Amino acid sequence: MTAMFPDHPYLKGYYQPFGAEMDAPDLVIEGKLPQTLSGTFYRNGPDPLYPPHPEDRYHVFDGDGMVYAIRLGGGRAAMKNRYVRTRKYELERAAGRRLFGVFGNPRFNDPSVSPMEYNTANTHIWPHAGALYALMEGCPPTALDPDTLETKGYETFDNTVTGPFTAHPKTDPDDGALHAFGCGAKGPGSTAIRYDIIDSAGHKRHTAWLDQPYPSMMHDFALTERRVVFPCLPVVISMERAMAGKPLAAWEDDRPAAFGIMAKGGNGGDEVRWFETDPTFAFHIAGSFDDGQDVVIDVAGSKRAPLMPSADGTLPSHQDTRFTLKRWRIGGNGHFREEELDGLDIQFPRIDDRFQGKRYRKTFVNGTARPTAGRIDGFDQIAAIDVESGARDSFSFGEGAYCGEPVFVPDGPGEGEGWLLALVWDSHRNASFLAVLDARDVAAGPVAKVHMPARVPGGFHCHWRPAA
Ligand SMILES: [Fe+2]
Repeated sequence: MTAMFPDHPYLKGYYQPFGAEMDAPDLVIEGKLPQTLSGTFYRNGPDPLYPPHPEDRYHVFDGDGMVYAIRLGGGRAAMKNRYVRTRKYELERAAGRRLFGVFGNPRFNDPSVSPMEYNTANTHIWPHAGALYALMEGCPPTALDPDTLETKGYETFDNTVTGPFTAHPKTDPDDGALHAFGCGAKGPGSTAIRYDIIDSAGHKRHTAWLDQPYPSMMHDFALTERRVVFPCLPVVISMERAMAGKPLAAWEDDRPAAFGIMAKGGNGGDEVRWFETDPTFAFHIAGSFDDGQDVVIDVAGSKRAPLMPSADGTLPSHQDTRFTLKRWRIGGNGHFREEELDGLDIQFPRIDDRFQGKRYRKTFVNGTARPTAGRIDGFDQIAAIDVESGARDSFSFGEGAYCGEPVFVPDGPGEGEGWLLALVWDSHRNASFLAVLDARDVAAGPVAKVHMPARVPGGFHCHWRPAA
């Protein structure tokens, strides 16, 4: 049996655990699905099967990964959702209770488990080389069958990736290779970063090692046509702090922001040039490109990190942690400049992935013009922001709607010619749907809503896989 979940903001409402797996062969569609839309929309997110130890504190990053697959084609839609069968999930399900501390905190681990087995596989979902990876940055990818969502186990790329692997790899649109990194790759709290290139057939082609200036929790990185950039930002991992009963990851005010720049495919070590500047923060990168000697990186940026306490345990103000679309420009001489491109409160920025690493114009976001009062949800609108003109084309699903990350699906050769897909929860009806919007005219509202058979809890990242 499952014990009652504690009263926690990320265990109720939008985030109330769902705990069920479904197969729905033919879903109700309101409006008309574009005939060209043929493939599968995937979404990963936390859905804890068991509540944490009574003295432990849940965190929204901690729940067991649940993957949704919504298959579209011929104007029809089907869906399924499955837990990722990680070792953690299997052990806890066999025991009928939670065995691991939140984030694998050893203070609350059952003596029967190893902290190394802590894997939620809950953050991103990434198709590559015929496989589908459920990603969580502390572990190697967990491979799933793209059709059945059956868990296959860790993908270690011939035993070369046995530890952390980012939840935000980048697929190079020119050769289909996957660029990735592992943060804390020589143990939790280490400064070691492993840079990986996996070719389009799924074989490891390149490994390089580098060290960041301090053990930051690096969530995303930037890849341009010529360079790779590792952002070391002041969310710092400290095992010593964790063992003292304080936060494992905390914002440290006295740390600079540092950017490690290296040639794409470089060998790490001394080939990385580190530039330091005043503290700034982003979890997520939108587009990035080379502009002469400068590197341009567009981000959902904030003054400091949300969801992360300061080292003394205090939580930051909403004003300091709200994300807006910002542009970072790092000059060839290391000069750093930050400017705000748009003032909307946003969560997850995406682009037309065919322009990954290239000069681009459109960032697609879930956002809100309503006060979010310090929450990381309540994003009622989808918007396309032109990063050159500043124009914003948006649609709000209204008060009480919660939009997830929008994914772009191309259906024409030009940038932004295609559709935006996003899961939306209507809190008034406690029901969810997949919204399909025209990326060329977002303000027109959804051309179709694919109604889910049950509510879909709040989650993280999404991906589209075109039909073969
Ligand atoms: Fe992320």
